[in-house]
Amino acid sequence: MALARVHNFSISLDGFGTGEPQSLESPFGHAGERLHEWMFATRYWDDDGQSGMDAVYASRHDVGFGAEIMGANKFGPPGWQDDPDWRGWWGDDPPFHTPTYVLTHRPRPSVEMEGGTTFHFLDASPADALATAMEAAGGLDVRLGGGASMIRDFVRAGLVDHMHVVQVPIVLGRGVRLWDGLDALEERFDIEAVSSPSGVTHLTMTRKHAP
Ligand SMILES: NC(=O)c1ccc[n+]([C@@H]2O[C@H](COP(=O)([O-])OP(=O)(O)OC[C@H]3O[C@@H](n4cnc5c(N)ncnc54)[C@H](OP(=O)(O)O)[C@@H]3O)[C@@H](O)[C@H]2O)c1
Repeated sequence: MALARVHNFSISLDGFGTGEPQSLESPFGHAGERLHEWMFATRYWDDDGQSGMDAVYASRHDVGFGAEIMGANKFGPPGWQDDPDWRGWWGDDPPFHTPTYVLTHRPRPSVEMEGGTTFHFLDASPADALATAMEAAGGLDVRLGGGASMIRDFVRAGLVDHMHVVQVPIVLGRGVRLWDGLDALEERFDIEAVSSPSGVTHLTMTRKHAP
């Protein structure tokens, strides 16, 4: 059965998935690149990077997915909806290579990019958005690409099967938190933690089966 999965979502020790304020110049606000330095150091990102545990986890980002859903604030900086030419941060050939659904209260016509990515814009509940993406994924899994707010909404709605969250040893103090309102998550997910020599902790959370 196809799954709804989060992969490579990075948070600080205090649980923030991004800093603030987000802008065109600083997509992650005051966090800068600190949440993803662990990934930039791997061979997944850079041919000269390390090929240890972090690289193995990171590379699974591209395995088995047939569609992605992301939030409006991952797709662009505040106000992107007012720019009819905004097509995301990633250039002409975005790294998704699948149908990619952007949740927004101000949808617009779909945009076909190079390399197999088509952005579709949806104003829909998490359940309806996931049903649409599952159908498009053709039997493969759906990546829930973030940011923190949309992942939180999907977890709260009981729609997430598996999460790979990377806890990075930095403290941000402010931004958008992943865990807010998700009390007792451990009752719904089996949680494993693996520490990497790089200092990050890979958390995998697998939805518990009904007894
Ligand atoms: N740490 C990581 O690994 C990672 C990964 C990806 C992204 N990020 C970062 O996370 C930040 C974005 O996260 P975020 O939590 O601020 O926002 P987000 O989850 O990307 O987007 C939230 C916004 O999406 C729209 N939306 C969400 N659900 C919707 C629904 N059901 N129907 C219609 N619209 C809906 C709403 O925008 P509107 O009302 O404006 O339409 C909402 O304010 C960015 O800085 C990004 O760079 C971090």
